[in-house]
Amino acid sequence: MNAIAEHHLFWQGETPLTCISRTEETHDTATFELAAPSAQFFDFLPGQFVSVGAAIDGKTLWRAYSISSSPTRPETLSITVKRVAGGRVSNWLLDNVQPGVELPALAPAGDFALRPDDVAGSVALFSSGCGITPMMSMTRWLLENRADTEIHFFHSARSEDDFIFRQELRAMAEAHANLKLHLFLTQPQGRMSCHHGRLDAGRVQSLLPEGAGIRAYLCGQEHYMDSVSDWLCAAGVPESAIHRENFAPVAADVSVGVPVSAERFSLNVPAFGKTAEIAEGELLLDVLEREGLPIIGACRTGVCGSCKCKVAAGEVDSGSALPLTPEEIEAGYVLACSSVAKGDLVIEL
Ligand SMILES: Cc1cc2nc3c(=O)[nH]c(=O)nc-3n(C[C@H](O)[C@H](O)[C@H](O)COP(=O)(O)OP(=O)(O)OC[C@H]3O[C@@H](n4cnc5c(N)ncnc54)[C@H](O)[C@@H]3O)c2cc1C
Ligand code: FES
Repeated sequence: MNAIAEHHLFWQGETPLTCISRTEETHDTATFELAAPSAQFFDFLPGQFVSVGAAIDGKTLWRAYSISSSPTRPETLSITVKRVAGGRVSNWLLDNVQPGVELPALAPAGDFALRPDDVAGSVALFSSGCGITPMMSMTRWLLENRADTEIHFFHSARSEDDFIFRQELRAMAEAHANLKLHLFLTQPQGRMSCHHGRLDAGRVQSLLPEGAGIRAYLCGQEHYMDSVSDWLCAAGVPESAIHRENFAPVAADVSVGVPVSAERFSLNVPAFGKTAEIAEGELLLDVLEREGLPIIGACRTGVCGSCKCKVAAGEVDSGSALPLTPEEIEAGYVLACSSVAKGDLVIEL
């Protein structure tokens, strides 16, 4: 909590947020600045996300969005949303949210974050595409609070036009000697100084000063983060100093390695008088949502905990239990977004 915010009441997700401004960042990405009612402040760490709900066709669909603003400005928080081909919520937000529009939201969450008491002297940020959003919050916060921390900001995009926050980031790099911006464009149009092509092991080795004292934060597609992790390890960065954020939802057949098959089990939710069928390999969350049961699948990647439910009888395979405490796991709680049935189930919501 910072000094300005100390005496304020914090918003904890109990009331909807109101969009107070909208900024077009690129042809397919916009930033929405959100405020809580009664001038409540926001308490979050740079890198964390907030889950927002979109009322579409009579249902509220939830998605997670990294906060792109800095916690040093706790009066508002900003999310930056990129269009996804066929995406339900991202496109709805971009098509419908203007100043004045209210959005239900959940309190900020997530382990992918800079902890003010534990910031390394050298921080390497690696993002591709819209994975830049948590990095922007981290960079804004670091520049305001840790003038002595070296920030090595690696960002990959297709072209200048796809480079989110391009003006602000370049201005920040010009104004702050401790921010080293390494931009990689695969299809540059020649207007901006950048590295041409993709990031690779050699470029990581030559642009990073030395591996040992660096802490690295990665956000982008899975294969991008896998490669960057390998290159960082080869450059001497210990695995424990490499942190990753995954934006892509868990797919049923990859979450726990079980392909969706024709075998069916029963999924019973006695409190709501519902019994449904669940296919082997199908995610609990997909079935609970299909049945109209009150469950929130905000991040769909096993990190936020919003889809927590209790297995009262039966067994599941789970790909993630990250936000659950050992006591909750012991009591039978699982994440519906990351679990598939191994047989008939009784679930408590
Ligand atoms: C912790 C976290 C932070 C996130 N932060 C941001 C952020 O700052 N900005 C942002 O724009 N998004 C962010 N996302 C992704 C966001 O939550 C949604 O997944 C994304 O907006 C797509 O949702 P949708 O409803 O539009 O697509 P859906 O209707 O859920 O999916 C439609 C199709 O797009 C594919 N798809 C879904 N999500 C993605 C994706 N991220 N990339 C590529 N293909 C996808 C699906 O497989 C499907 O085929 C974040 C996700 C997480 C878990
Ligand atoms: S939806 Fe976030 S953990 Fe399942």
